[in-house]
Amino acid sequence: MIELSSIQALRQQVTSWKQSGLRVGFVPTMGNLHAGHLSLIELASQQADKVVSSVFVNPLQFGEGEDYERYPRTLEADKAKLSSVSCDALFAPSVTEMYGQGQTQTQVLAAPELSRVWEGASRPGHFDGVTTIVAKLFNLVQPDVAIFGQKDYQQWCVLNQMVADLNWPIELIKAPIKRDLDGLALSSRNQFLNENQRKIAPRLYLELQQIAHAVTSIDEIDFASLEQAAMQNLLGHGFDQVDYIAIVDPASLQKLTQRQDTMTILAVARLGSTRLLDNIELDLS
Ligand code: PAF
Repeated sequence: MIELSSIQALRQQVTSWKQSGLRVGFVPTMGNLHAGHLSLIELASQQADKVVSSVFVNPLQFGEGEDYERYPRTLEADKAKLSSVSCDALFAPSVTEMYGQGQTQTQVLAAPELSRVWEGASRPGHFDGVTTIVAKLFNLVQPDVAIFGQKDYQQWCVLNQMVADLNWPIELIKAPIKRDLDGLALSSRNQFLNENQRKIAPRLYLELQQIAHAVTSIDEIDFASLEQAAMQNLLGHGFDQVDYIAIVDPASLQKLTQRQDTMTILAVARLGSTRLLDNIELDLS
C-alpha cells in the first residue's frame, strides 16, 4: 500500500492510474478503522482496479463543543488494517494540507431540505462540513466509484444529492451496515461504551426490527404510536436519551404517517455521552 500525505503526490498517483485506463475506487474515512470500514474497502476493490482510502478527521464537520479533539486518532493501527485488505493507496493529509493556513474557505452547501433535519437539526453546519470535505476529496482522487456506509444514512442521502446536483461522474455505492453478533452496528464510537452500556446497546437494533416487523405485517398501523413506544422501550432498557426514532421517506427523509413501498427507519439514542446511530431500510414492493 502506498502512503501519501500531500495533494501533489496523490494527484500524481491517480493521474498515472488513470493514464493506464484503470478504474479508481474511493473510501473516505475519519480513521479509527473497524471491520465496517474494511468491508467498504473490499466492496470498492470489487468495483475498481485501484482503491484509495483517506484518513482525515475533518474539523469542518464538528460543531463547537463536539468531540473533534477527543475523536480517536489511530493512524498507525489504521495503516496496518488497510494493508491487510485490498487498499492500494492511503491518503492521510494534515489539516493544513487540506485547508491551508486558516484563510476563509469556500464551502459546498449541503441540500437544505436533506441536511437540516434529524442529525442536521442538532448539529448545525455538520453536513456542510461533510459535503465540503467530500467535494475536495472527490476533486483530488477523481474516483469512478465511491463507497459510503448505510449506517450514516442521512450522510449518504446528502452526498448522493450533491453528486447528482454537481453532475459528478461518480458512481456512489451504499454499503450495508456491518454488525456485531448481537446486532449492534459497528462504529468507532462503540469503544466509548462501558461494559453495562455495551450490553444495553444492541437493544436499539431490536427496537428497529420490531418497528420493521409491525410496519410490514399490520395494515393501518399508527406510525407515531410505534415510534413513541420504541422510544419508551429504549429508555426503559437503560438508554439515557432518545434523540429520535422516525419512519421516513428514503429519498426526502420526511416523516411518514402511512405505509409506502419503500421506507427507512432512523434512530439515534444515547448511552451516557455516546450517541448510537442505526437504521433499517424497508422495501415492501
Ligand atoms: O463518514 C465519515 O467518516 C465522514 O463523515 C467522511 C465521509 C469521511 C467525511 O469526513
